[in-house]
Amino acid sequence: MKESIERIFAELASLKAATQKDVEEARVRLLGKKGEITALMEQFRCIAPELKREYGQKLNELKKAATAKIEELKEAAEAAAEASEPKEDLSMPGDAFPLGSRHPVSIVRAQIVDIFRKFGYDVAEGPEIEDDYHVFEALNFPPNHPAREMQDTFFVSTGHLNPLLLRTHTSSVQVRTMESQSLPIRVVCPGRVFRNEAISARAHCIFHQVEGLYIDKDVTFADLKQAILLFAREMFGADTQIRMRPSYFPFTEPSAEVDVSCNICKGKGCNICKGTGWLEIMGCGMVDPNVLKASGIDPEKYSGFAFGMGVERIAMLKWQVNDLRHYFENDMRFLQEFATATEV
Ligand code: PHE
Repeated sequence: MKESIERIFAELASLKAATQKDVEEARVRLLGKKGEITALMEQFRCIAPELKREYGQKLNELKKAATAKIEELKEAAEAAAEASEPKEDLSMPGDAFPLGSRHPVSIVRAQIVDIFRKFGYDVAEGPEIEDDYHVFEALNFPPNHPAREMQDTFFVSTGHLNPLLLRTHTSSVQVRTMESQSLPIRVVCPGRVFRNEAISARAHCIFHQVEGLYIDKDVTFADLKQAILLFAREMFGADTQIRMRPSYFPFTEPSAEVDVSCNICKGKGCNICKGTGWLEIMGCGMVDPNVLKASGIDPEKYSGFAFGMGVERIAMLKWQVNDLRHYFENDMRFLQEFATATEV
């Protein structure tokens, strides 16, 4: 018995239990109903009376030491288990992340571009800071044309022959396309443009355009009219009508303004179309031979048409927004109206 007590004391000193399960196993082995210490207690009943005092004390110490050791190991195992447990409930759903929505101008620009892409047009882009040559000169603007003057154009540098400026239309990208691409050319040029205009409900100094250019052999005004009719019907609905009014642009001849039938009153006349039944959507025309020549294209062999429209204007007509400035103020209440208008 003495040996057993000493052995168990020694064992207790080096007893280790990493997990709660190990601790419970050690407890059962030592202090359980059939445990080693419990068995010694049984034996104690049968030993000689003169030894009872000594062994009784020893056994009690052993039992106390074993109980304390098991308790100590239990606490350590519990603390370790707690530390390795995840603090949060990982099965909980995540916090909702508020998603932004596309800007209405981006939605309409993508719609316009997509319609022309379906017709086989490529997309071309160019610099917003341009030179006078690509914005005016190559587009047949006479040297003293009023659009070159300071009140219309933001100049970045002046005082030399080809000043830098903020492009006033994306026709400059059409010039760059004619310079760099082989014929036939069929492109749309979306982009931001800048004009020195007083800001009002109908005008802004920054806005967006999509311009288009088609150059090939035997392109006629009838092709232009058809392309624009198809575009208008895709954009505003299958029953949309168009009409063309003679106009003037330095880079097209003949030139026209395009109106679409008012999709709100169906042509009867309302306050959106100011009682006329028609809404102006773009300028267009047959590319002037001087423009073709400036970019090295032979006007005897090739002809083409061009058109250009303001994206904000189309968006205003499509969604009946009566003030252009809404598109630039980024008021969340306005922008959220378009959160679901993502059909492109
Ligand atoms: N560039 C013209 C503008 O900014 C639009 C246009 C393009 C007109 C092509 C005719 C042909 O107003």
